[in-house]
Amino acid sequence: MSFDHRRYMDEKRLWVNAELETRLASSGTPPVELHDAMRYAILGGGKRLRAVICLACADAAGGAPGVAAGPALALELLHGYTLIHDDLPCMDDDDIRRGLPTVHVKYGQAAAVLAGDALQALAFEWAAAGAAPAPHTPTAIVTELAQAAGSLGVVGGQVMDLAAEQEQPSAEAVARIHRLKTAMLFRCAARMGAIAAGAGDEILAGLTQYGENVGLAFQIADDVLNASSTAQQIGKPAGSDAERSKTTAVAVYGLDGARQRADDLVSAAVDALVGLPGPVDPLHAIAHYITSRTH
Ligand code: IPE
Ligand code: IPE
Ligand code: MG
Ligand code: MG
Repeated sequence: MSFDHRRYMDEKRLWVNAELETRLASSGTPPVELHDAMRYAILGGGKRLRAVICLACADAAGGAPGVAAGPALALELLHGYTLIHDDLPCMDDDDIRRGLPTVHVKYGQAAAVLAGDALQALAFEWAAAGAAPAPHTPTAIVTELAQAAGSLGVVGGQVMDLAAEQEQPSAEAVARIHRLKTAMLFRCAARMGAIAAGAGDEILAGLTQYGENVGLAFQIADDVLNASSTAQQIGKPAGSDAERSKTTAVAVYGLDGARQRADDLVSAAVDALVGLPGPVDPLHAIAHYITSRTH
């Protein structure tokens, strides 16, 4: 029987959701509004792609079941924090995310900033819960997350993304912004999964290529959806990139050119999946899903 990718992704997503639900501080924990805002940001939907990639990479690297649970869940916290801050009025100023009012609309800006801060801290706590196995140093997983999150990763990319609103879009700028603001975290997802599984150099290199390429394809697909879908379909504002003169793949390459580049990146991601000891069907399916998704 052929691999049922929809069932695989549904099962993993439901597992992630259930774990997040039980591990986050329960509603009513003081300060109540802070913990409510954190739960609201994290539990209100999301595709859980970064977590699923982390889990699937650990499996592909031959890891025992569950080895990447902490890092996978940590990725969703870190990603959730970046979304809260990305939507703030001082950044993209968006009111809807995952089909619901954004965190600052519901709880106010101070609570949104602080919920994001707390989620980022919690992400590191969860990522640090297990020591990385040999041949890695025990702190290797946390180091990966820190590098992907920081000034040479997501935060640096967000700075460039905002600065580029004032500049003429260029191919170089879009490549730089996409790599830092988005692909670094996908790369990190793949690498944390591989490291948790104890992968050696060659396996780690292949999965790093996979993660980076699907991350780049993912952000191009996000740009395409912003330009070609309705807000109802994507659960967040549509057409907003053009309104804010964002440097996107669509602005530089047009819709068809952007779609082609995303397809090429998916091919490159899949080509990197060679010589792995564990199952690769899920990673193939995730790569293709990234460009065929409708939200
Ligand atoms: C949105 O990411 C932010 C980008 C990097 C484009 P996702 O589309 O993965 O967001 P959720 O978690 O599924 O809502
Ligand atoms: C989001 O990029 C990247 C991060 C949150 C780090 P966008 O601003 O393009 O994503 P959406 O469209 O708001 O999800
Ligand atoms: Mg943004
Ligand atoms: Mg945004």
